[in-house]
Amino acid sequence: DWTMADFVEEAVAHIRARVGDGIVIGAVSGGVDSTVAAVLLQKAIGTQFRAFLVDNGLLRKNEVSEVVARLHDKCGVALTTIEGADTFLARLDGVVEPEKKRKIIGNTFIDLFDAEASKVDAAFLLQGTLYPDVIESVSHKGPSATIKTHHNVGGLPAHMKLQLIEPLRFLFKDEVRALGLVLGVEKASVGRHPFPGPGLAIRILGAVTPQRLSVLRDADAIYIEELRAAGLYDAIGQAFAVLLPVKAVGVMGDCRTYEEVIALRAVETSDFMTANWFDLPTPLLRRVSTRIVNEVRGINRVTYDITSKPPGTIEWL
Ligand code: XMP
Repeated sequence: DWTMADFVEEAVAHIRARVGDGIVIGAVSGGVDSTVAAVLLQKAIGTQFRAFLVDNGLLRKNEVSEVVARLHDKCGVALTTIEGADTFLARLDGVVEPEKKRKIIGNTFIDLFDAEASKVDAAFLLQGTLYPDVIESVSHKGPSATIKTHHNVGGLPAHMKLQLIEPLRFLFKDEVRALGLVLGVEKASVGRHPFPGPGLAIRILGAVTPQRLSVLRDADAIYIEELRAAGLYDAIGQAFAVLLPVKAVGVMGDCRTYEEVIALRAVETSDFMTANWFDLPTPLLRRVSTRIVNEVRGINRVTYDITSKPPGTIEWL
Protein backbone atom coordinates (compact mmCIF):
# COMPACT_ATOMS: atom_id res chain seq x y z
CA ASP A 1 0.00 0.00 0.00
CA TRP A 2 0.98 3.55 -0.78
CA THR A 3 2.65 5.70 1.87
CA MET A 4 3.89 9.28 2.12
CA ALA A 5 7.45 7.91 1.96
CA ASP A 6 6.61 6.42 -1.46
CA PHE A 7 5.24 9.78 -2.54
CA VAL A 8 8.50 11.49 -1.56
CA GLU A 9 10.56 8.93 -3.47
CA GLU A 10 8.43 9.24 -6.62
CA ALA A 11 8.24 13.03 -6.42
CA VAL A 12 12.01 13.37 -5.98
CA ALA A 13 12.70 11.08 -8.96
CA HIS A 14 10.17 12.93 -11.09
CA ILE A 15 11.54 16.38 -10.19
CA ARG A 16 15.14 15.31 -10.89
CA ALA A 17 14.23 13.83 -14.26
CA ARG A 18 12.30 16.91 -15.30
CA VAL A 19 14.75 19.55 -14.06
CA GLY A 20 18.00 17.93 -15.18
CA ASP A 21 20.75 20.43 -14.46
CA GLY A 22 18.37 23.42 -14.70
CA ILE A 23 17.63 25.96 -11.99
CA VAL A 24 14.28 26.25 -10.21
CA ILE A 25 13.21 29.42 -8.42
CA GLY A 26 10.30 29.90 -6.07
CA ALA A 27 8.82 32.37 -3.60
CA VAL A 28 8.29 31.18 -0.05
CA SER A 29 5.97 32.83 2.44
CA GLY A 30 6.46 30.68 5.50
CA GLY A 31 3.01 29.16 4.92
CA VAL A 32 2.53 25.40 4.96
CA ASP A 33 2.34 24.89 1.19
CA SER A 34 5.34 26.93 0.10
CA THR A 35 7.41 25.57 3.00
CA VAL A 36 6.68 21.92 2.22
CA ALA A 37 7.18 22.49 -1.52
CA ALA A 38 10.53 24.20 -0.87
CA VAL A 39 11.83 21.46 1.40
CA LEU A 40 10.79 18.83 -1.15
CA LEU A 41 12.67 20.68 -3.90
CA GLN A 42 15.74 21.04 -1.68
CA LYS A 43 15.68 17.30 -1.07
CA ALA A 44 15.36 16.58 -4.79
CA ILE A 45 17.84 19.03 -6.31
CA GLY A 46 19.67 20.80 -3.46
CA THR A 47 20.96 24.25 -4.38
CA GLN A 48 19.62 23.99 -7.93
CA PHE A 49 16.51 25.23 -6.14
CA ARG A 50 16.66 28.92 -5.13
CA ALA A 51 14.00 30.25 -2.79
CA PHE A 52 13.09 33.89 -2.22
CA LEU A 53 11.33 35.32 0.80
CA VAL A 54 9.94 38.79 0.20
CA ASP A 55 10.06 40.74 3.45
CA ASN A 56 7.21 43.13 2.73
CA GLY A 57 7.34 44.70 6.18
CA LEU A 58 3.85 43.32 6.76
CA LEU A 59 4.76 40.04 8.42
CA ARG A 60 4.19 39.16 12.06
CA LYS A 61 6.60 39.51 14.96
CA ASN A 62 9.85 37.54 14.32
CA GLU A 63 8.32 35.89 11.27
CA VAL A 64 11.15 36.60 8.84
CA SER A 65 13.83 35.22 11.15
CA GLU A 66 11.68 32.18 11.94
CA VAL A 67 11.22 31.35 8.26
CA VAL A 68 14.95 31.76 7.61
CA ALA A 69 15.80 29.56 10.61
CA ARG A 70 13.37 26.88 9.53
CA LEU A 71 14.03 26.75 5.79
CA HIS A 72 17.66 27.79 5.47
CA ASP A 73 19.31 26.92 8.76
CA LYS A 74 17.42 23.72 9.53
CA CYS A 75 16.46 22.36 6.10
CA GLY A 76 19.32 23.69 3.97
CA VAL A 77 17.14 25.53 1.45
CA ALA A 78 19.12 28.10 -0.58
CA LEU A 79 17.11 31.10 0.57
CA THR A 80 17.47 34.78 -0.26
CA THR A 81 15.51 37.35 1.71
CA ILE A 82 14.38 40.30 -0.40
CA GLU A 83 14.29 43.40 1.81
CA GLY A 84 11.14 45.11 0.61
CA ALA A 85 9.69 46.77 3.72
CA ASP A 86 10.59 50.34 2.73
CA THR A 87 9.20 49.95 -0.78
CA PHE A 88 5.94 48.36 0.37
CA LEU A 89 5.38 50.90 3.15
CA ALA A 90 6.14 53.84 0.86
CA ARG A 91 3.66 52.60 -1.74
CA LEU A 92 1.03 51.96 0.96
CA ASP A 93 1.46 55.40 2.49
CA GLY A 94 -1.98 56.84 3.26
CA VAL A 95 -3.83 53.98 1.53
CA VAL A 96 -6.97 52.92 3.43
CA GLU A 97 -9.18 51.12 0.92
CA PRO A 98 -8.82 47.30 1.27
CA GLU A 99 -8.76 46.32 -2.39
CA LYS A 100 -6.33 49.13 -3.15
CA LYS A 101 -4.02 47.78 -0.45
CA ARG A 102 -4.24 44.30 -1.97
CA LYS A 103 -3.51 45.57 -5.47
CA ILE A 104 -0.48 47.61 -4.40
CA ILE A 105 0.91 44.72 -2.37
CA GLY A 106 0.37 42.20 -5.18
CA ASN A 107 2.04 44.43 -7.76
CA THR A 108 4.94 45.37 -5.49
CA PHE A 109 5.50 41.71 -4.68
CA ILE A 110 5.79 40.88 -8.37
CA ASP A 111 8.12 43.86 -9.01
CA LEU A 112 10.55 42.89 -6.25
CA PHE A 113 10.44 39.15 -6.83
CA ASP A 114 10.91 39.70 -10.54
CA ALA A 115 13.89 42.03 -10.07
CA GLU A 116 15.70 39.56 -7.83
CA ALA A 117 14.66 36.32 -9.56
CA SER A 118 15.63 37.51 -13.02
CA LYS A 119 19.26 37.69 -11.83
CA VAL A 120 19.08 33.89 -11.72
CA ASP A 121 19.17 32.00 -14.99
CA ALA A 122 16.21 29.82 -14.10
CA ALA A 123 14.19 27.50 -16.33
CA PHE A 124 11.49 26.57 -13.81
CA LEU A 125 9.22 28.23 -11.23
CA LEU A 126 8.02 26.32 -8.19
CA GLN A 127 4.42 26.81 -7.12
CA GLY A 128 2.76 25.25 -4.09
CA THR A 129 -0.55 24.68 -5.87
CA LEU A 130 -2.78 22.13 -4.12
CA TYR A 131 -5.45 19.88 -5.60
CA PRO A 132 -8.34 22.08 -4.37
CA ASP A 133 -6.73 25.07 -6.18
CA VAL A 134 -6.55 22.99 -9.35
CA ILE A 135 -10.22 22.05 -9.08
CA GLU A 136 -11.25 25.60 -8.24
CA SER A 137 -9.48 27.05 -11.25
CA VAL A 138 -11.17 24.68 -13.71
CA SER A 139 -14.65 24.82 -12.19
CA HIS A 140 -16.77 27.85 -11.39
CA LYS A 141 -15.54 29.97 -8.53
CA GLY A 142 -17.60 29.90 -5.37
CA PRO A 143 -19.72 32.89 -4.45
CA SER A 144 -17.04 34.32 -2.15
CA ALA A 145 -14.35 34.25 -4.83
CA THR A 146 -15.35 37.67 -6.08
CA ILE A 147 -15.67 39.35 -2.68
CA LYS A 148 -11.94 39.83 -2.20
CA THR A 149 -9.17 39.49 -4.74
CA HIS A 150 -7.02 36.93 -2.96
CA HIS A 151 -3.47 37.10 -4.03
CA ASN A 152 -1.06 34.27 -3.43
CA VAL A 153 2.69 34.54 -3.61
CA GLY A 154 4.40 33.56 -6.84
CA GLY A 155 2.56 35.44 -9.58
CA LEU A 156 4.41 34.72 -12.80
CA PRO A 157 5.78 37.81 -14.57
CA ALA A 158 4.80 37.48 -18.21
CA HIS A 159 8.26 38.01 -19.67
CA MET A 160 9.81 35.27 -17.57
CA LYS A 161 9.42 32.20 -19.70
CA LEU A 162 9.45 29.70 -16.91
CA GLN A 163 7.92 26.26 -16.76
CA LEU A 164 5.84 25.55 -13.69
CA ILE A 165 6.77 22.88 -11.17
CA GLU A 166 3.79 21.99 -8.99
CA PRO A 167 4.72 18.96 -6.88
CA LEU A 168 1.71 19.31 -4.56
CA ARG A 169 -0.96 19.54 -7.22
CA PHE A 170 -2.47 16.14 -6.41
CA LEU A 171 -2.50 16.63 -2.65
CA PHE A 172 -5.06 17.92 -0.19
CA LYS A 173 -4.06 20.14 2.73
CA ASP A 174 -3.90 17.34 5.32
CA GLU A 175 -1.69 15.33 2.94
CA VAL A 176 0.63 18.32 2.55
CA ARG A 177 0.95 18.48 6.34
CA ALA A 178 1.73 14.74 6.47
CA LEU A 179 4.28 15.18 3.69
CA GLY A 180 5.90 18.02 5.61
CA LEU A 181 6.30 15.84 8.69
CA VAL A 182 7.86 13.03 6.61
CA LEU A 183 10.29 15.60 5.17
CA GLY A 184 11.29 16.73 8.67
CA VAL A 185 9.48 20.07 8.73
CA GLU A 186 8.70 20.91 12.35
CA LYS A 187 5.20 20.25 13.66
CA ALA A 188 4.51 23.89 14.61
CA SER A 189 5.24 24.83 11.01
CA VAL A 190 3.00 22.30 9.25
CA GLY A 191 0.17 23.13 11.66
CA ARG A 192 0.37 26.87 11.15
CA HIS A 193 -2.81 28.85 10.61
CA PRO A 194 -3.09 30.43 7.15
CA PHE A 195 -1.73 33.95 6.83
CA PRO A 196 -2.89 36.14 3.94
CA GLY A 197 -0.45 37.33 1.27
CA PRO A 198 -1.18 41.03 1.98
CA GLY A 199 -0.22 40.33 5.58
CA LEU A 200 -0.90 42.75 8.40
CA ALA A 201 -1.95 45.44 5.91
CA ILE A 202 -5.41 43.82 5.79
CA ARG A 203 -5.49 43.48 9.58
CA ILE A 204 -4.87 47.19 10.08
CA LEU A 205 -8.04 49.13 9.37
CA GLY A 206 -7.07 52.56 8.15
CA ALA A 207 -3.54 53.67 7.34
CA VAL A 208 -0.60 51.27 7.56
CA THR A 209 2.25 52.95 9.45
CA PRO A 210 5.37 51.52 11.12
CA GLN A 211 3.98 52.52 14.50
CA ARG A 212 0.60 50.82 13.93
CA LEU A 213 2.33 47.71 12.53
CA SER A 214 4.41 47.49 15.67
CA VAL A 215 1.34 47.78 17.92
CA LEU A 216 -0.52 45.08 16.00
CA ARG A 217 2.52 42.76 15.97
CA ASP A 218 2.86 42.96 19.74
CA ALA A 219 -0.85 42.43 20.41
CA ASP A 220 -1.06 39.52 17.96
CA ALA A 221 2.02 37.84 19.45
CA ILE A 222 0.51 37.97 22.96
CA TYR A 223 -2.78 36.53 21.71
CA ILE A 224 -1.16 33.64 19.81
CA GLU A 225 1.22 32.91 22.67
CA GLU A 226 -1.72 32.60 25.08
CA LEU A 227 -3.68 30.40 22.65
CA ARG A 228 -0.72 28.05 22.39
CA ALA A 229 -0.18 28.06 26.17
CA ALA A 230 -3.84 27.12 26.65
CA GLY A 231 -3.46 24.24 24.18
CA LEU A 232 -6.12 25.74 21.89
CA TYR A 233 -4.11 26.76 18.83
CA ASP A 234 -4.59 23.48 16.95
CA ALA A 235 -8.34 23.41 17.61
CA ILE A 236 -8.76 26.79 15.90
CA GLY A 237 -8.79 27.27 12.12
CA GLN A 238 -7.43 30.79 12.23
CA ALA A 239 -6.81 33.32 14.99
CA PHE A 240 -5.38 36.82 14.87
CA ALA A 241 -5.60 40.35 16.19
CA VAL A 242 -6.96 43.29 14.20
CA LEU A 243 -6.17 46.99 14.75
CA LEU A 244 -9.26 49.17 14.45
CA PRO A 245 -9.35 52.69 13.00
CA VAL A 246 -10.88 54.30 16.07
CA LYS A 247 -9.71 55.67 19.38
CA ALA A 248 -11.52 55.08 22.63
CA VAL A 249 -11.39 56.64 26.06
CA GLY A 250 -10.03 54.70 29.02
CA VAL A 251 -8.50 55.23 32.42
CA MET A 252 -5.13 54.06 33.66
CA GLY A 253 -3.99 54.94 37.17
CA ASP A 254 -5.27 58.47 37.68
CA CYS A 255 -5.10 59.37 34.03
CA ARG A 256 -7.62 59.43 31.26
CA THR A 257 -6.33 57.73 28.11
CA TYR A 258 -7.44 58.09 24.51
CA GLU A 259 -5.97 55.25 22.48
CA GLU A 260 -6.57 52.63 19.81
CA VAL A 261 -8.66 49.44 19.98
CA ILE A 262 -7.70 45.83 19.23
CA ALA A 263 -10.22 43.23 18.08
CA LEU A 264 -9.45 39.53 18.55
CA ARG A 265 -10.72 36.97 16.04
CA ALA A 266 -10.77 33.17 16.22
CA VAL A 267 -12.76 30.88 13.94
CA GLU A 268 -13.30 27.20 13.41
CA THR A 269 -13.77 26.14 9.81
CA SER A 270 -13.28 23.19 7.50
CA ASP A 271 -12.63 25.07 4.27
CA PHE A 272 -12.44 28.82 5.07
CA MET A 273 -15.48 29.39 2.82
CA THR A 274 -17.70 29.37 5.89
CA ALA A 275 -16.59 29.65 9.50
CA ASN A 276 -17.97 29.86 13.02
CA TRP A 277 -16.57 32.19 15.62
CA PHE A 278 -14.73 30.17 18.24
CA ASP A 279 -16.08 30.05 21.76
CA LEU A 280 -12.88 30.91 23.63
CA PRO A 281 -12.84 30.32 27.40
CA THR A 282 -13.53 33.50 29.37
CA PRO A 283 -10.39 33.22 31.58
CA LEU A 284 -8.26 33.13 28.43
CA LEU A 285 -9.99 36.20 26.99
CA ARG A 286 -9.49 37.98 30.31
CA ARG A 287 -5.78 37.12 30.39
CA VAL A 288 -5.20 38.21 26.79
CA SER A 289 -7.08 41.47 27.28
CA THR A 290 -5.18 42.33 30.47
CA ARG A 291 -1.85 41.53 28.90
CA ILE A 292 -2.48 43.51 25.72
CA VAL A 293 -3.64 46.63 27.55
CA ASN A 294 -0.78 46.40 30.06
CA GLU A 295 2.01 45.44 27.67
CA VAL A 296 1.18 47.16 24.38
CA ARG A 297 1.49 50.91 24.49
CA GLY A 298 -1.15 52.68 22.45
CA ILE A 299 -3.97 50.18 23.14
CA ASN A 300 -6.49 50.77 25.89
CA ARG A 301 -9.37 48.50 24.84
CA VAL A 302 -9.78 44.93 23.55
CA THR A 303 -12.90 43.44 21.95
CA TYR A 304 -13.76 39.90 20.78
CA ASP A 305 -15.33 39.36 17.36
CA ILE A 306 -18.46 37.15 17.63
CA THR A 307 -19.34 37.19 13.93
CA SER A 308 -19.42 34.02 11.84
CA LYS A 309 -18.87 33.74 8.07
CA PRO A 310 -21.25 34.49 6.52
CA PRO A 311 -22.20 37.26 7.17
CA GLY A 312 -18.69 38.32 8.23
CA THR A 313 -15.60 37.32 6.34
CA ILE A 314 -12.71 35.83 8.29
CA GLU A 315 -10.46 38.85 7.77
CA TRP A 316 -11.87 42.28 8.52
CA LEU A 317 -10.71 43.70 5.16
P1 XMP B 1 -12.01 35.80 4.05
O1 XMP B 1 -11.59 37.03 4.77
O2 XMP B 1 -12.31 36.04 2.58
O3 XMP B 1 -10.75 34.83 4.08
O4 XMP B 1 -13.12 35.05 4.74
C1 XMP B 1 -10.77 33.46 3.72
C2 XMP B 1 -9.34 32.96 3.86
O5 XMP B 1 -8.51 33.60 2.87
C3 XMP B 1 -7.49 34.35 3.50
N1 XMP B 1 -7.33 35.61 2.75
C4 XMP B 1 -6.33 35.84 1.89
N2 XMP B 1 -5.29 35.08 1.52
N3 XMP B 1 -4.57 36.80 0.09
C5 XMP B 1 -4.39 35.58 0.64
O6 XMP B 1 -3.40 34.92 0.30
C6 XMP B 1 -5.61 37.63 0.40
O7 XMP B 1 -5.72 38.74 -0.12
C7 XMP B 1 -6.52 37.11 1.35
N4 XMP B 1 -7.65 37.63 1.91
C8 XMP B 1 -8.13 36.68 2.76
C9 XMP B 1 -7.95 34.56 4.92
O8 XMP B 1 -6.83 34.76 5.80
C10 XMP B 1 -8.70 33.28 5.19
O9 XMP B 1 -7.80 32.22 5.51
